[in-house]
Amino acid sequence: AEEGLLRGRRLLVTAGGTVERIDPVRYLTNDSSGKMGYAIAEEARRMGARVTLVTGRASVPAPAGVEVVRVESALDMREAVLSRMEQQDIIIKAAAVADYRPAEAAQQKIKKKSDEMTLQLVKNPDILAELGERKTTQFIVGFAAETQNVEAYAIEKLKRKRSDLLVANDVTVEGAGFGTDTNLVRIYDAAGLVEALPMLSKQDVAARLLALIAERLPKGE
Ligand code: C5P
Repeated sequence: AEEGLLRGRRLLVTAGGTVERIDPVRYLTNDSSGKMGYAIAEEARRMGARVTLVTGRASVPAPAGVEVVRVESALDMREAVLSRMEQQDIIIKAAAVADYRPAEAAQQKIKKKSDEMTLQLVKNPDILAELGERKTTQFIVGFAAETQNVEAYAIEKLKRKRSDLLVANDVTVEGAGFGTDTNLVRIYDAAGLVEALPMLSKQDVAARLLALIAERLPKGE
């Protein structure tokens, strides 16, 4: 029954962690496995969507039948997403984007010198918030990993970034969040809680989320 739910829709999903260069051999990153975003790409494809997967560092193989765009840093991901946003019906930001990057990436390997060194970081642009500012007809979905006050932070984030839905997970719960094959999420819109899902495989979370999105899209041509 779900097979054709997204037929003809164009969907872009971001996944994985960004890599922020310090020098040619060193970088900052995070524990994202990419599993949630990759599951969304695969399920969306199964539901008939034309899928673009913009991916940072991930530990799982890309699903078949989707266009894969590999990026390294948050700045690269921003460019890859914004340059493709106009063609999309749905944009889902499941990537773990680094909040900060080194102020400058050294061209040569940094030499060991004094006993202490300071790495200056600068803030990365918030891609989801920029999508919210620029959106016309796109349906935009954010993710939020929280460790406390999940509902309050989720709704605040959804409104500030002008997303249509926000998927929140409490990463302090075992089996939810980074690296696991399962996830425990609550899905919010601007009016509040839409659905609290039980602990499910990331594949099943993806299918439920995409079904909710499909219900909320303007009727297709
Ligand atoms: O890090 P934060 O909790 O604000 O992330 C919430 C959402 O915003 C996620 O969907 C994430 O992919 C997105 N985000 C982004 N650009 C950033 C930081 C977060 O698109 N620089």
